[in-house]
Amino acid sequence: MAILIRGGTVVNADRAFRADVLCDGDKVVAVGPALAAPAGAEIIDAGGQYVMPGGIDPHTHMNLPFMGTVTQDDFFTGTAAGLSGGNTTIIDFVIPNPQQPLLEAYHQWRGWAEKAAGDYSFHVAITWWSDKVHEEMGTLVRNHGVNSFKHFMAYKNAIMADDETLVKSFRRALELGAIPTVHAENGELVYQLQQDLLRQGISGPRAHPLSRPPAVEAEAANRAIAIANVLNTPLYIVHVSCKESLDAITRARAAGQRVYGEALAGHLIVDDSVYDHPDFDFAAGHVMSPPFRSREHQKALWQGLQGGNLHTTATDHCTFCAEQKAAGRNDFTKIPNGCGGVEDRMAVIWDEGVNSGKLTPSEFVRVTSANAAQIFNIYPRKGLIAAGSDADIVVWDPEGSRTISAKTQFAKGGFNVFEGRTVKGIPSTTVAAGKVVFHRGELRAVEGAGRHIDRPAFAPVTAR
Ligand code: URP
Ligand code: ZN
Ligand code: ZN
Ligand code: ZN
Repeated sequence: MAILIRGGTVVNADRAFRADVLCDGDKVVAVGPALAAPAGAEIIDAGGQYVMPGGIDPHTHMNLPFMGTVTQDDFFTGTAAGLSGGNTTIIDFVIPNPQQPLLEAYHQWRGWAEKAAGDYSFHVAITWWSDKVHEEMGTLVRNHGVNSFKHFMAYKNAIMADDETLVKSFRRALELGAIPTVHAENGELVYQLQQDLLRQGISGPRAHPLSRPPAVEAEAANRAIAIANVLNTPLYIVHVSCKESLDAITRARAAGQRVYGEALAGHLIVDDSVYDHPDFDFAAGHVMSPPFRSREHQKALWQGLQGGNLHTTATDHCTFCAEQKAAGRNDFTKIPNGCGGVEDRMAVIWDEGVNSGKLTPSEFVRVTSANAAQIFNIYPRKGLIAAGSDADIVVWDPEGSRTISAKTQFAKGGFNVFEGRTVKGIPSTTVAAGKVVFHRGELRAVEGAGRHIDRPAFAPVTAR
C-alpha cells in the first residue's frame, strides 16, 4: 500500500525543504510539493514536523554471546526498540571466536538475525589470523555483502587482535575494497591495570574507568591510525570516547588521511560520575568500554561532531540485566561490558544537539544516518529521502517530548543510561521498508520483516 507523508519539512544532509513524500512498496517514489494521494494510500499528516531519513545505528550488538553470557536484546526486540526511536537500520557485528571459521560465524549471526523487525547488516570481526581467514574475508566481501571488518584492540585473552592480525587484515581489506574498523583500547595495558587494581583491593565498578584511562584508548587509536597510514588504508574508529583519540583523528585527517570517527550517544550525554554511585547495580549498569568520561571529554566529542572530525553517532547497544551484571559484584573485570540506547539515540542527540543549536537539522541527519550510509556504502539507498531510496523515514515532532525510563522502554535489560532525562523532539511515526512500524507511541514491529542489507565493496582507491 502507498503511504503519503504530507505537509512536513523534508530534511536531508544537504538541505531542508517543504515537500510531501510518497512511498510505494518499499521505496520512496516521489518527493515534491502537493503530491496527489493514489487511491487507497495511507496519509500521514506531517504538518509542523520534520521528515528525515530513518536513523542508521552503525554499532549494535543484538543477541551477542559475550563475557560468558548473552545480551538481553535479540534481533527482534533490539530492532523493534530501534524502530520506536526512529531508527530503521542497524549494522551489527559478527564476532567469530578465535579459531572459528568466519563463514561459520557469519551464518550463525545471519540465522539469529532472521527475526529482526528492521533492516540490518554486519561488520565482521577479525579475531585471529590464518590463510583461511584471508580467504574467507574475500568470500564475505564478494558473496555476502560485507565491506567492513572490525578489530578489537582490547579484550586480551578473548577476542583481541594483535599487531600482526591488524596489519594483515587491514592490508587484505584494502585489497578487497573493504574498510577496517577498530575498537581502540590497548588490551595489554587494560589487563595489567585491572590486575594492579584487584591486587590493591579495588574491585568495584569505580575501578572500571581507572583500568581504561584516556591514554589507553589514545595509544590504540594512534597505533591503528599509524598502521592505516603505512598501508594506505582508510580507517573507521568506533566509539571514540576521549579528547586524545579525537585529537589523533583530527591530526590524521589534517594530514590527508582518510580516518572516520564514531561517537556514542552515551559518551556524548553521560559522564563518569555514574561510577561513584554507591548502588552496585546502578554503577555496574554503566560498565561499558570505553567507559563514560568527564565533561571535558564530552565537550570535545560534541566539537568533533560539529567540526567534522567525528562522522557518525551510534549506541553500541549491548544490553545486560542486573543479574548478568552481578557476575562482577566482587570483581569488576567480570561485569559484562555493555549498555543500551538504540531506542534513545536519535532523541537524545536531537535534544542535546539540535535544541541547543550545536547541530542544524541537516547536520543531525548527517550524523544519524547519511554519513554512516556513505562510509559503509549503502548511500543513497539509505540515509537520503529521494525517489528511488528505501522508504525508511522518521517523522519527527520537534514539540513532542518524552521522559526516558527503563520502565517504559521497549528494549530489554531493565536499565537505561539516560534514565529520567526528558527529551524534546521525538519520532511521531517511523516508516520502515514502506510500512508504518511505529505511530504515536504504538509499536507495530513485525518479527522477521527486517532484511539483510548487502553492502558492496568500494571501488579501488589508487592514490590520495
Ligand atoms: O562495552 C562494550 N562496548 N561492549 C560491547 C563490545 C564492544 O566493545 O563494543
Ligand atoms: Zn567496542
Ligand atoms: Zn561494540
Ligand atoms: Zn535477567
